Amino acid sequence: MAAIDRYAVVGNPVGHSLSPRIHASFAVQTGEALSYEAIELPPDGFVDGIRDLQRQGFGGVNVTVPFKREAWELCDSLSQRAEQAGAVNTLSFDVNGRIAGDNTDGIGLVRDLKDNLGVELESSNILVLGAGGAVRGVLGPLLERSPASLAIANRTPQKAAALARDFAGLGNVSALAFDALAGQDFDLVINATAAGLGNEVPAIPGSVISAASVCYDMMYNIEKPTAFVAWALSHGAAGAFDGLGMLVEQAAAAFAIWRGVNPDSENVIQSLRAGAS
Ligand code: ATR
Repeated sequence: MAAIDRYAVVGNPVGHSLSPRIHASFAVQTGEALSYEAIELPPDGFVDGIRDLQRQGFGGVNVTVPFKREAWELCDSLSQRAEQAGAVNTLSFDVNGRIAGDNTDGIGLVRDLKDNLGVELESSNILVLGAGGAVRGVLGPLLERSPASLAIANRTPQKAAALARDFAGLGNVSALAFDALAGQDFDLVINATAAGLGNEVPAIPGSVISAASVCYDMMYNIEKPTAFVAWALSHGAAGAFDGLGMLVEQAAAAFAIWRGVNPDSENVIQSLRAGAS
């Protein structure tokens, strides 16, 4: 009997990751024989941990917080979007011990917005909140959709300005401080800050939301609305969505890289939401 190919998500912490359930669903759906587990690596043990998984014959891993930058540094080759993102969430191991890195976070966000939620990106005015690694990972794929404008606003404005400079060649990108947002509204507001970890919302004026605005929180919570989703709805957004679909779509893109098959995401998103998967 052929050996089953092994994959995993590595991070710290990683115990609550939904990725094993998502990939198990994809495997059943596509008939691919593989296993997928969650592996916690010590904060200073990323490289040793990856080398160990290569020795064990793993086919690849997904990488989550806090190792995406270290993963980027470790790769022998990078996709263009991973190069641009400065972070890697998908590693593929070859039989010669080489590691190829990709970043599927941005494409995961764009697919969730466009394909699952029907949000128009072309010609829209987008506000992205935050200027950390999560934002760097999604700017390229968002700008590829040719929005009319993309503003980056961050609590520490200098970081937003630096990111806007880095991506200026890809579209109409600007940087703003939170208090400079007063009086402007946007078609799409994406929260990519870590404020939700403390159940907080970035300190931005509610006037960024009009009755036509759609809001998207890159964090997710399958139990109840995230703080940002609740805030957006209370300020009259046309729609507000959390990042569960992005999580599933980035997983689907990783699965396709490893297996050459595109799984169907929509059923998996629905069953996770229903708690039935
Ligand atoms: P990640 O990889 O998730 O992007 P990060 O690089 O540490 O993590 O970036 C965290 C982002 O969340 C930053 O933009 C941070 O703002 P600062 O640059 O000003 O630190 C933002 N952030 C974290 N907590 C926040 C809060 N309570 N309100 C607003 N922004 C917050």
